[in-house]
Amino acid sequence: MPTTIDVFEKARTHERVAQLHAAGEVDLIPYFRRLESATAPVVEMEGRARIMLGSNNYLGLTSDPRVLQAAHDAIDRYGSGVTGSRLLNGTLDIHLELEAELADWLGTEAAIVYTTGHHANLGAIGTILGPGDTVIVDSGDHASILDGVLLSRAKMRPFRHNRLDLLERRLQQAESDGGGVLVVVDGVFSMEGDVAPLHEIADLSERYGARLMVDEAHGLGVLGARGAGASELLGVEDRVDLRMATFSKSLASCGGVIAGPADVIDFLRIQSRPFLFTASGVPAAVGSALAATRICRSDEGPALFASVLDNASYLNRGLHALGFHVVEPTALPDGTTVTTPVVPVLVGDDWRAAFLWKALYDAGVFVNLALHPAVPPGGALLRTSVMATHERATLDEALATFERVKRDFEAEHGPLPSPA
Ligand SMILES: Cc1ncc(COP(=O)(O)O)c(C=O)c1O
Repeated sequence: MPTTIDVFEKARTHERVAQLHAAGEVDLIPYFRRLESATAPVVEMEGRARIMLGSNNYLGLTSDPRVLQAAHDAIDRYGSGVTGSRLLNGTLDIHLELEAELADWLGTEAAIVYTTGHHANLGAIGTILGPGDTVIVDSGDHASILDGVLLSRAKMRPFRHNRLDLLERRLQQAESDGGGVLVVVDGVFSMEGDVAPLHEIADLSERYGARLMVDEAHGLGVLGARGAGASELLGVEDRVDLRMATFSKSLASCGGVIAGPADVIDFLRIQSRPFLFTASGVPAAVGSALAATRICRSDEGPALFASVLDNASYLNRGLHALGFHVVEPTALPDGTTVTTPVVPVLVGDDWRAAFLWKALYDAGVFVNLALHPAVPPGGALLRTSVMATHERATLDEALATFERVKRDFEAEHGPLPSPA
């Protein structure tokens, strides 16, 4: 008998569809807003200039003339696309150059470049782990890590964000699972902006015989003297077994990388489905990522890393002083603190967060709105982020806007969460 179940039904009845329609009627949807210029400190968006506090262009390199020239040169030399996978006709010499450059930067034996960062997590986790294995993840880990776990069909044991006691319990529970164990954490958490306690995580992983993988998407080109990420900042590079990073943030392009031991990287080259069964990164993306990598590794790198971190601290302190509940800077083992370029403003309720987002947008400041499942239920936040190229005057203008908007918002909707 033919089925009466229509697989499209969920598209009509999903709870978010009704919410989206309701929000759309009052122009309250924060997503898919139309950008009409390059991603810069101030952008053209839907017909007017707005301060961009919602990009991951941490070093501002998407407009750097050398990065742009490298993209043009790559197009001139190799054309617009590769029309095939790395395995077959899609490996260019610049893919290999980029892999060598990234391995050298991260201090690993080898590296493999994927078409996106999402593919990199999918490819590494989905290939290294199998159905008999266990993967232990922080609840704040990026969605692409969870997608990799799904692909692997390994047993997932999540622990609450940064709760090392729960990580240890998961490691103990994994002992009776019978397979290998991989711990995967973000070095910098993409929504919270805090840095993972990698020292303690490495200690625990070693104690229980687990391998450790760190996603450096938001740390590469930002943290550490060489800009090699949270693992460098915390001095655990030699204790992290695999490092993942993306080119879609500091490296001003699109693509992803897994860096680690040569035998594991070689295994990924021949077994990793998201590497083998998709077209490789287009020449312009690879050329620009290579140029951005070289800028990070040049004498200019440290000044750029310092600028973005300085801007992050400035925005964090400014928002705190205005009475917003921003995530505290992360305390480091040496007694100092670090504020990453991700500076979240906690709001709590979804609708209140959406109204606050819209008020800022209308006043000329673009930020990102993070709702469940990107954050825990009831944990809606405005994710602000800075670039090395934001001028102080621009950040001051944004802060003045936040102040005005807060006053008007609270007069109408009641108080926002205040600093902890
Ligand atoms: C922590 C983290 N990992 C992985 C990714 C995926 O990277 P990509 O944008 O290159 O697919 C992102 C991007 O949003 C991220 O924030």
